[in-house]
Amino acid sequence: MKAKYWLLSLMLLVVVALAACSGGDDGTSGEGDGGTDEGTEETDGDTGESAGEGESSDEVVELVYARGQDSTKASEMLIQEFNDTHPNINVTFREMPSDTGQQHDAYVTMLNAESSEIDVMDLDVVWPAEFAQAGYVLELDRFLQRDGIETSDYNQGALSAAQFNGKTWAMPKFIDAGMLFYRTDLVGEGEVPQTWDDLMSSASSLQGEGGTEFGYLMQAKQYEGLVCNAVEFIASYGGTILDENGDVAVNSPETIKGISKLVEVATSDFVPGNINTFTEVESHTAFIEGQSPYIRNWPYQWNLANDEEQSEIAGNVGVAPLPEGDAGSAAALGGWMSAINKYSEHKEEAWEFVKFMTGPEGQKISAIHGGLAPTLPALFEDEEILEANPFFTQEGFQNALEGAVSRPVAPNYPEVSEVIQINVSKAIAGELTPEEAVAAMEEELKAVMQ
Ligand code: GLC
Repeated sequence: MKAKYWLLSLMLLVVVALAACSGGDDGTSGEGDGGTDEGTEETDGDTGESAGEGESSDEVVELVYARGQDSTKASEMLIQEFNDTHPNINVTFREMPSDTGQQHDAYVTMLNAESSEIDVMDLDVVWPAEFAQAGYVLELDRFLQRDGIETSDYNQGALSAAQFNGKTWAMPKFIDAGMLFYRTDLVGEGEVPQTWDDLMSSASSLQGEGGTEFGYLMQAKQYEGLVCNAVEFIASYGGTILDENGDVAVNSPETIKGISKLVEVATSDFVPGNINTFTEVESHTAFIEGQSPYIRNWPYQWNLANDEEQSEIAGNVGVAPLPEGDAGSAAALGGWMSAINKYSEHKEEAWEFVKFMTGPEGQKISAIHGGLAPTLPALFEDEEILEANPFFTQEGFQNALEGAVSRPVAPNYPEVSEVIQINVSKAIAGELTPEEAVAAMEEELKAVMQ
């Protein structure tokens, strides 16, 4: 017993001593609220320390890069390529929850505590306004100007999602748009469903064929992915959440129709009985295991489903726009961008990594090994990228990217999202009719959006 206590106090002492040391470091670099020359000061600080020992070139700066689980090999390859070509920087990967809402909350907790434990992180397209306003991420314009990065080379929609108050807070890394993936061994050319009703009858008749257990997979857990699925159903029936002036316009017959169709699909016999626990991971896993002829997912699904090491259906994958409602086909706009933690102690090196990942070389790795759609339009002409992702040239894919429907933009987006998630979930659970769910959304959205 006594020995245990002694050991414990010794450990405590070590912890306190370590904390005191790192506290000293924090003191020199922790404060400041994004002043323009913060980045340079930090770098001077770093090199200053090692220069004292006379061998600054041997100093390796350790960077931590965080993003959600990557089921493809892209992140690993990006990091490896960067580390190989930047001997003075060593990036390590920090895996965050794959559910974007949980990931968001983990960052907010860390950043509210002004933690410097991660240097670079990927932000979902719906977060930058909030992160910029809260002062969590470093403003990047000074680096862009200094290094001559042409922002006009980027997809302007993706770029504008990374900007807030006229400043750039992140660099667009890839664009997402919801799509329909199907098994070509079960669905012939010309048989791909055009409308949601076609999809329902095809999913129902193919269920059980070719080793499948289900007919369709989607994301219907109460989380951000459900908002994306809902936006697609709503828009394909001509509904909207906000109008062009940003006012709440959700309570319309069109939105009710969209939600009704979503509920019909999500409560059908051809989706898994526990579809209300499905995020991207559960749905893509079932798809690559060969359990369903159809899935709604993002472009990375192509690469993953054709990965022979992980997928039972490699070589048998087709892609099409999502089915149409009365108003046509609609894809939700998603995507991610890379940002620098404002409290990072290695901002200059962090920028080097962000610049690499989001520049042509990094985006090419992400496109080839992760199936991610580039935010640099010129890369859609790159032969190797097109060979890895033949569907990038399909008219339907380009139209889906161009016409993709945004989620509301708001610095308090998590509240907006929660209203949609909760009410759509209640409609799926049968606790609210689609009419009631839409009326509740209207009232609650008006309250959170003031
Ligand atoms: C994808 C999209 C992202 C979206 C998320 C929802 O990661 O890129 O924008 O919020 O899916 O699950």
